[in-house]
Amino acid sequence: MSKQAASAVRGDFVDDIPAAARPRAATAGGPRLLELHAINAAEDAARLLAGLLAGQARTDPKFFYDAQGSALFDAICHLDEYHPTGTEAAIFRQYRAEIARELPRGLQWVDLGAGDAAKSREWLAAVPARRYIGVDIADAWLRPAVARIAEAYPRIEAIGVVADLTRPLALAPLLAETPDAPPLFFYPGSSIGNFPPDRALALLKAIRLLGAGHGGLGTLLIGVDCESDDARLVAAYDDALGVTAAFNRNLLRVANRVLGADFDPRAFAHRAVFNREESRVEMHLVATRDQTVRFTVPDRAERDFAAGEHIVTEYSYKYTPARFTALLEAAGFTDVRIWQDAEQRFAVCLAAAG
Ligand code: AVI
Repeated sequence: MSKQAASAVRGDFVDDIPAAARPRAATAGGPRLLELHAINAAEDAARLLAGLLAGQARTDPKFFYDAQGSALFDAICHLDEYHPTGTEAAIFRQYRAEIARELPRGLQWVDLGAGDAAKSREWLAAVPARRYIGVDIADAWLRPAVARIAEAYPRIEAIGVVADLTRPLALAPLLAETPDAPPLFFYPGSSIGNFPPDRALALLKAIRLLGAGHGGLGTLLIGVDCESDDARLVAAYDDALGVTAAFNRNLLRVANRVLGADFDPRAFAHRAVFNREESRVEMHLVATRDQTVRFTVPDRAERDFAAGEHIVTEYSYKYTPARFTALLEAAGFTDVRIWQDAEQRFAVCLAAAG
């Protein structure tokens, strides 16, 4: 996965692009770029601070993805221990033609968390799409990604939509512009796993509703990481080179910048555990000594961390195919089909919204 594709994570946090610099509508001379809602940096900062001051300190995974965090995530995707990226790519390669045969002709390919759109570029060679709609929080990445799609597939109308997937997904008017082209929602990389099950269900319901029009022909193609043995799952989030540890600690750099804080990243250790009861890998940052952290933005505040106390920085939920099918069905999807690798570590699911 490329650096930009790191933004395939739901609701990536990009703090260096001022909202005012984003176009609200079409850009001249290139593919259409729309902004669904303003990315509210002040609200994000307030949420980050509230989480860090909470009894159990907690941060939303979207705060990982500044430029450095995205580069580190890119490196994670190339690690031997981190199986989701390579396993999903192998399933796509093996079953692409078979999956493509299941899809309606002339569809609108909606790339949720598009990033650099590299995965979609491969699919569009095999799928009879009429329109490409790339959705991502970062227009700095979306612009070139959509332009590359337009260049590679001049017959496909390419559109970029700047949106935060943690907010309501108001894509209906855009999809309705081509009422006879059913939408295919593409949500790879097990990004759904970073939502707790209730929020995952809400997002899937929203996608299902968007897909239910168009003669009931809307579909979802989604990748999800599966439960496997604890040691391999933990290794995927605690690699030998320490790349994931750096990715996790980078969160403290982000907090320092966004909140004017004085976290010392060296005073926190990376920890990954598999919580089998909740079926999720948890990433923590554990204080290695007693310390006080000061914040200056948006308000002055401070927090003591005792040695051993931790911040929860990410949950990454894992599913069995049966449990993920049940989640899709609870969201209203039908006809769920699943493709897996031989070791059944990852699942690619196709489901009908109609
Ligand atoms: C983006 N997301 C699906 C990754 C995951 O596996 O939950 C983020 C990640 N965190 C640590 N390694 C990868």
